[in-house]
Amino acid sequence: MTTEPDLFVRELSAPSVWPDSAVSAPGGDVALGGVSLAELAERHGTPAYVLDEEEVRSRARAWRRALPDADIVYAAKAFVSRAVVDWMAEEGLGLDVCSAGELELAATRGFPPERVVMHGNAKSPQDLRTALRLGVGRIVIDSDCEIARIAAQVPGAEAQRVLVRVLPGIEAGAHRKIQTGSEGQKFGLSIANGDAEDAVARVLGQPKLELTGLHCHLGSQIASPEPYAEAVRRLVALLARIRDRHGVTLPELDLGGGFAAAYLPGDPAPPPAAYARRITEELDRSCAEFGVPTPRLTVEPGRSIMAPAGVALYRVLSVKRSGAQVFVAVDGGMSDNPRPALYGARYTVRMVGRSTAAPMRTTTVVGRHCEAGDILAQDVELPEDVRPGDILAVPASGAYQVSMASGYNMTGRPPVVAVSQGRSRLLMRRETFEDHRSRDVGL
Ligand code: LLP
Repeated sequence: MTTEPDLFVRELSAPSVWPDSAVSAPGGDVALGGVSLAELAERHGTPAYVLDEEEVRSRARAWRRALPDADIVYAAKAFVSRAVVDWMAEEGLGLDVCSAGELELAATRGFPPERVVMHGNAKSPQDLRTALRLGVGRIVIDSDCEIARIAAQVPGAEAQRVLVRVLPGIEAGAHRKIQTGSEGQKFGLSIANGDAEDAVARVLGQPKLELTGLHCHLGSQIASPEPYAEAVRRLVALLARIRDRHGVTLPELDLGGGFAAAYLPGDPAPPPAAYARRITEELDRSCAEFGVPTPRLTVEPGRSIMAPAGVALYRVLSVKRSGAQVFVAVDGGMSDNPRPALYGARYTVRMVGRSTAAPMRTTTVVGRHCEAGDILAQDVELPEDVRPGDILAVPASGAYQVSMASGYNMTGRPPVVAVSQGRSRLLMRRETFEDHRSRDVGL
């Protein structure tokens, strides 16, 4: 595939939102993992999601390299399929699951259960039953009422390993809806009001539970290592108080996920090494200050591994001028990507599969759903001659899009196609009308 000196190449000279393997190809095309995006749109139809396997793997490896002594636990909620479970197993990562469904999926691939961490502010009886039956490595306790409940269900003689999720009282994250480390929301047990220490005392009193450490998750799309350093200080101080009060030294500290990905060129997205450096430096400093042995670290990245590896493909259905605005409507929308509507998320868009010399103009890409808020990308630059039938590619689409896709308007959730070394393979097929119809069992 030859590389053309076009807009795409110029984009690549800025901090890129495209996977490493992305290159411009003849005829205005883009190739990912050596596979033409225009061809994939033709073969699989649109909307479709393309996932660059090597990008996922190399980002997983970058986390392992950055924190060689830590456990890197991939947050399945960002996107998971059976192939992804295999990739994570092969790259030596663990898996963060938050439902029996995610856990069962991992189990179908024989993912080592001891490398699974189960989360949830409100785990259902089925979640807990499945976690205990399959023997997950850690269950993260998120409320008082699940302590006795879990302890009562532990099968066999061995204690279940658990962490206590604490609220460090730190505000971080790109949007209020994804800030989970501050006081006054549903997650975790507050350090400030003593709930965390009370829960620790209760867990320590349960012989069927083995408390291995503390957990926190500050939020999502956090583009600076500083909030993590602050969390380390507060959690290590708590480890010291637990040691003083109970005489136990907890050996593990799980800092959750939340590491940022770039959605627009130039968005700050520190590499794993930058977070790792700051976190380990603060961990060593705080442990020395409080005289506690350095605990084993866990981090739970989801987005930073998966978002940059995915590209969404749409076909233009209509182009409309409304006042000063140009709306390009595509065959997907908030049913496959609810992020702009939920969090005001921004994306870039590029036309693929057709060369044009037309000048660029500011355009808003909207979906096909029955809501004015169904906007995919506000104020993006697209060629003036963009027309129905053209293919649009949206990079940075690998995380929290397919996994949050809905059945709205029965348009059918899109397929996911993996590309690697010049080959593509279907990971998830498109949801069909027959899928919808077969669930509709009553008359
Ligand atoms: N660990 C825990 C306990 C979490 O709750 C999450 C994400 C993660 C790890 C992974 O966070 P990440 O590294 O992916 O930021 N739907 C939102 C994001 C919600 C994140 C929920 N928890 C979005 O599309 O921005």
